[in-house]
Amino acid sequence: MLKPLHSMRKIFENRWVLVTGASSGLGEELAKRLAQHGAHLVLSARREDRLENLAADLRRVNGIDALVIPADLARPDGVERVLAAVRERNVTISHLVNNAGFGSAGAFSELDPQRESAMVELNVGAVVRLTRGLLGPMLRAGDGGVLNVASTAGFQPVPFMATYAASKAFVVSFTLALAAELEGTGVRAMALCPGPVQTGFQAAAGFQRPALSFAVLTPNRTIRGALAAYERGEHLYTPGLVNGVQALAARVLPHGLVTWAATRTMRRLGRAPAKLNAKG
Ligand SMILES: NC(=O)c1ccc[n+]([C@@H]2O[C@H](COP(=O)([O-])OP(=O)(O)OC[C@H]3O[C@@H](n4cnc5c(N)ncnc54)[C@H](OP(=O)(O)O)[C@@H]3O)[C@@H](O)[C@H]2O)c1
Repeated sequence: MLKPLHSMRKIFENRWVLVTGASSGLGEELAKRLAQHGAHLVLSARREDRLENLAADLRRVNGIDALVIPADLARPDGVERVLAAVRERNVTISHLVNNAGFGSAGAFSELDPQRESAMVELNVGAVVRLTRGLLGPMLRAGDGGVLNVASTAGFQPVPFMATYAASKAFVVSFTLALAAELEGTGVRAMALCPGPVQTGFQAAAGFQRPALSFAVLTPNRTIRGALAAYERGEHLYTPGLVNGVQALAARVLPHGLVTWAATRTMRRLGRAPAKLNAKG
């Protein structure tokens, strides 16, 4: 087991942290790390069995409290259920981690419209609803914060992943604006912008080929860096050198060039058809 960082313990020890999308990938890694830093956890996602197993492990290994609130966060009533359950149990959330999210890849005109809308509801709607629902007590305490998981896709338009990239652009912009509003309150906000990470994300998004291996990070490396940046009070964190260079390029190069390069990447990953099908 890792030795907890002293300053990280100061932020999280004996505080309640709500982690969405905790049933796999980055969310599961976040929950494990936060438990090592002494946080009590509210874990949410749809797969209840996985959340219950994780909660039981964390209680046993780290001696923390862990609550499971299963919910479909792509539905506004799912988000309401989480907020109501937190209130009913008299738990004050000090830190909110909006991590649940998914992507889809392919020509927009051919993607399932229901799934595209659900993606916006989850990647954007749930972030707004949960943040608005939980920020008040943090402000009253003058302590805590919001960690939103965005993506390097949020720095630029990504053809053949149009809705996903736009949803993450929302998260980046929203978080940076919120961080500025929160200046001086004692409450922090940070957007985590990973590039490709080894999780179930790529399969769920329908990628046929993996991303370039030198750009792919582990969940462990991603979350270790992210929590350290959050602790330092950073507002935006992009893990890994390759992702950092890509993020910078997206900001300084002309839009046309950046979008062209993204199209080429999507072709290589097998998600951009040579020609659009007219039936969409
Ligand atoms: N992996 C990458 O390459 C990468 C890169 C950049 C950004 N990200 C972002 O990182 C975040 C975590 O993704 P991941 O990489 O860890 O992928 P993942 O392993 O597929 O995890 C996604 C998580 O979101 C939850 N989720 C999906 N739909 C949900 C819904 N309708 N309601 C509630 N929870 C839902 C899933 O749980 P259930 O299925 O149990 O509901 C799961 O816990 C996402 O926001 C993603 O956009 C990932």
